[in-house]
Amino acid sequence: RALPFIAIVALFAGCTSMTPYGPSAVADLAPTKDSKVAGTVTFTQKGDKVVVQAKVSGLAPGTHGFHVHEKGDCSSGDGMSAGGHFNPEAKPHGPQTAPHHAGDMPSLKADAGGRAKATFVLEGVTVSPGPTSVVGRGLIVHKDPDDYRTQPTGNAGARLACAVIRAS
Ligand code: CU
Ligand code: ZN
Repeated sequence: RALPFIAIVALFAGCTSMTPYGPSAVADLAPTKDSKVAGTVTFTQKGDKVVVQAKVSGLAPGTHGFHVHEKGDCSSGDGMSAGGHFNPEAKPHGPQTAPHHAGDMPSLKADAGGRAKATFVLEGVTVSPGPTSVVGRGLIVHKDPDDYRTQPTGNAGARLACAVIRAS
């Protein structure tokens, strides 16, 4: 009778050590001036990676650049106070499959109703405190697609929504 109990304990210990869900953070995206784009984005530490879940509305249908920016500051009204892309390791701007800023993320894809929903996993950032933590940084949704090539912005155009990422 002892064996199943040991097996269950081992399984449970294995799960928790392989994929611990750590601290989480949230960003409430607010429209910049002349924009209606808003939404909520959560960041959850999972092992050494971060799971991002985004729900954004008010977009034009199509693809929109989406980045963590250096400064948690939306005070300028046009999103420019959030600074450039979060880049703690001095990398070039790029796609997930190549060297890229820590703050570079998959673009949002809005449906015909202007809504975008996305879930993806980021490497190279944390929610836990540290030099690559996204907490206290800015989050920006752009008007245009990210070309993942133009330095250092991806040529994603105006900033339509801004948020400060905060621990939750
Ligand atoms: Cu950006
Ligand atoms: Zn970038």
